[in-house]
Formats: sequence, structure tokens, C-alpha cells
Amino acid sequence: MSSTFPHSLYAQRRARLAAQLGADGIAIIPTAPERPRNRDTDFLFRHDSYFYYLTGFIEPGACLVVAADGRSTLFCQPKDLEREIWDGYRLGPAAAPGTLGVDAAHSIAELDAKLPRLLENRSCVWYPFATHAGLAARVEGWLNAVRARVRYGALCPAEQNDVCTLLDEMRLIKDAHEQDIMRRASDISARAHIRAMQRSARMLRAGQDVREYHLDAELLHAFRDEGSQYPAYSSIVAAGANACVLHYRADAAPVRDGELVLIDAGCELDGYASDITRTFPANGRFTGPQRALYDLVLASQDAAVAATKAGARFNDPHDATVAVLAQGMLDLGLLDRNKVGTAQDVIDTRAYFQFYMHRTGHWLGMDVHDCGSYVEPGEVGQVSERKDPLSGETITNRPSRVLRPGMVLTIEPGIYVRPADGVPAQFHNIGIRIEDDAIVNDAGCELITRGVPVKADEIEALMRDGA
Ligand code: GLY
Ligand code: MN
Ligand code: MN
Repeated sequence: MSSTFPHSLYAQRRARLAAQLGADGIAIIPTAPERPRNRDTDFLFRHDSYFYYLTGFIEPGACLVVAADGRSTLFCQPKDLEREIWDGYRLGPAAAPGTLGVDAAHSIAELDAKLPRLLENRSCVWYPFATHAGLAARVEGWLNAVRARVRYGALCPAEQNDVCTLLDEMRLIKDAHEQDIMRRASDISARAHIRAMQRSARMLRAGQDVREYHLDAELLHAFRDEGSQYPAYSSIVAAGANACVLHYRADAAPVRDGELVLIDAGCELDGYASDITRTFPANGRFTGPQRALYDLVLASQDAAVAATKAGARFNDPHDATVAVLAQGMLDLGLLDRNKVGTAQDVIDTRAYFQFYMHRTGHWLGMDVHDCGSYVEPGEVGQVSERKDPLSGETITNRPSRVLRPGMVLTIEPGIYVRPADGVPAQFHNIGIRIEDDAIVNDAGCELITRGVPVKADEIEALMRDGA
């Protein structure tokens, strides 16, 4: 993967960060560590998202320092012919300013020696508090080195702040370049879902033994075939009852004629995630009960999409989903009116939670569950309390985030029916989720994942065609 934007874009982001650091502030943002998988073999390296957002640089062993005056210093792996023979090309400090637009660059081996001098005479040091184990202790070490020089007149930063609070807000609004990459990632993922659906129908019609991993293989092929670097998260390919396990992984269970398959999978392209779920009949034809539940989930998603627009709240799509699902659960007999009452009662008592136990969406961006506060920043003081009807716990509420153009979120309602007394047997073990990715705009939202159809008839048609 190479940097996809001109380095001026990253320089602009660094400048925006610098402007928020206070008069003498300085920020330290390391990339991710390499993580051992077994013995001397590492997991595939994936950069830190905050670091990448500010540099476009994907090598391991790097750390960015941004000062309030806008000056940026990169520490990176030094050139090393032997290591480059084994592990690959390194940019190196000499080339880094020209390639990345940073003001200065040094070997990462000099980090401990140089950082105390960069921190000296600053009022505040900013770094990520929660994403890098051990970083706080290293910062303490660098600050102690500054303190050792106070008798020579050095001032040591007295304040430490979490740089993520600034970067989270910046990352929450996706600029045009980011939106463009996310559209392309979504298109690749959409084609991968179509490919998996068609493989399922084709193999079943040929009388073959279909396993979840066959469909996972289609996803991986489609992701890599179009240049995506890797899945944005572990793909869920869940056949039959496995769909009721929310964090199921693609495994080896048989994909049976007559059952549904739930696939939740999206590729990562140039640092940005996509996140799509489709649920389809393994053989390409919904049964009556499957279709009834599917159409209900889709109707609830339609309501959520209609509620996703600039000026609405983050919680609005969830509330719209729950209203439709609650009524549908009564109409289909999943819930017994005589026991749970009206749809409003189902909402108030959270009786729907038996079949719908997750939220309807999350921010999406560089991380699949992207950063950004779900509370409206100007309203954090508006605290209210309520008693949760199921747990009896007191829940603290704050007004949820106002949606603004450029925010990207998923819309992913579902229904998961585990066998239980009073639940009609025809719905047992059916799990359905439909997930699309939406860019908020003034008019509403742009669904960027509809390259894979969502209507039951359209899914049946593409599975017929592909077979
Ligand atoms: N694939 C993770 C999620 O949908 O949240
Ligand atoms: Mn999701
Ligand atoms: Mn998902």
C-alpha cells in the first residue's frame, strides 16, 4: 500500500492539529508496534490510524512529533541494507522530508535521545492515552530527562493531554479524499458479497458440499483481486443457526440448502474500512418465514436510512429501527401481545431486546468501529438519568451526537431468533442482519454499499443469474 494522497493533505492535517495544541504544546503520535504471532513471526503489520491520518506513512518503527508552531519531526527506521534485503524497502530519514513533507526526520533509534530536547520548555505534551501500551511510561521517562535539566533553566511540561480528543473530532468528518476511498472500498466489498452469494447457490445446485470457508474464500479473493490490502475485520460467514452468534467467525460449518447465510465482511482499502452485512438463502430462494423476517429487518433499515441526515441525532436511526422492529415482532408473533402489550410497551420495556440486542450503527472510517464521540460535544453537561427496564440499573444519558455532512456511519439492524418458549418454531435459529454504510449529507445520506442489492427479490435474481 502506498500513500494515496499528496503529502500536502497530511501537512494540512498536521497544521490543523498544531493549531489546537495551545501556545507551547507538542504532540507525540507513534505508529502501531509490530506484534509477534508465534516465535519469530509477526502478525501482518498494520499502521496506527492516527499516525497514518497525519503522515500517510505505513512503515513500522515510526513516531511523529508535531509542535504548536506547526513544525513536524518524523522518527523512522534508518536505511539498513541488510534489513531491507530481508524485510523490504525503508524510506529512511534523509528522504522523509521530501517524500512526506515533514520538516525534519531522524532515525527511530534516536527517539529517546532527541525527545527530551523537543519537550523542553513546552507547557503541555499531548499523546494518545489509550492506544499504545507503555507509552505513558516512556513519556514519563522523556519528561524525567527534561527534569534533570531544570537547574540549567529548562522548563518541563506540567500538563499532559490525550491527543486523541483532538484527532477523534478531526477524523469524524471525512473529507472528499476519504469519502472517495470509502466509496471504492465499499464497491469492492459489494462485489465480494455478490460473488459469495453466487458461489453458494452454484455449489448447492451442483450438489456439492458447501462450507462457510468456501464463501470466505470468495470474499478474500474478491478483496485482494481488486487491490484491497486485507479484510477490515475478521469476516463473519455464518450458516444457519450460527447467524445468531453475533461475533461468529467464518469457520467450517456446512451451508445447507434451505437455510440462510449471514455474511458480515468488508475490505480495507488504503487505510479505510468498509462494513457490509447481507443475509441470503443459501440456495437462492427465501422460504416464507425467512422472507417475513427479512422484509421486517429491511423495513426497519429503510426507516433508519430515512432518519439519517444532517441535523438528526446519532440515536435517531436506532430509534427508528426499534419502532419498526417492535411492531413487526408483534405482528409476526415473535412477541405475544397478551404478554408484552403494544409496540410502545415493547419499546419502553425493551422486550425487543430478546431478538435485537445491538445498536443500529457506529462510526466508520479508518477503523471499522471508528473514533469520534457519540455525545454532542456542546451538550455533555445535559445529563439525565433513567432506570433500565431489563437490568434495573440507572443509566446516565447525554444528548447524542448531531449528524453533520461528512460523517460516515453504518446502518445495521437485525433480528436473531434463538429457540425459546413461546417463540414460533418456524422462526427458530434464523439470524438476519442487513448492514450498509452511509455518508451523511444535507439532503439525507448516501448509501455507498448498495452495489450489492438488498431487496429479497433482487438477491434471489442475482443468485439465479450467477448460478
Ligand atoms: N463488522 C463489525 C460490525 O458490523 O460492527
Ligand atoms: Mn458494523
Ligand atoms: Mn459489520
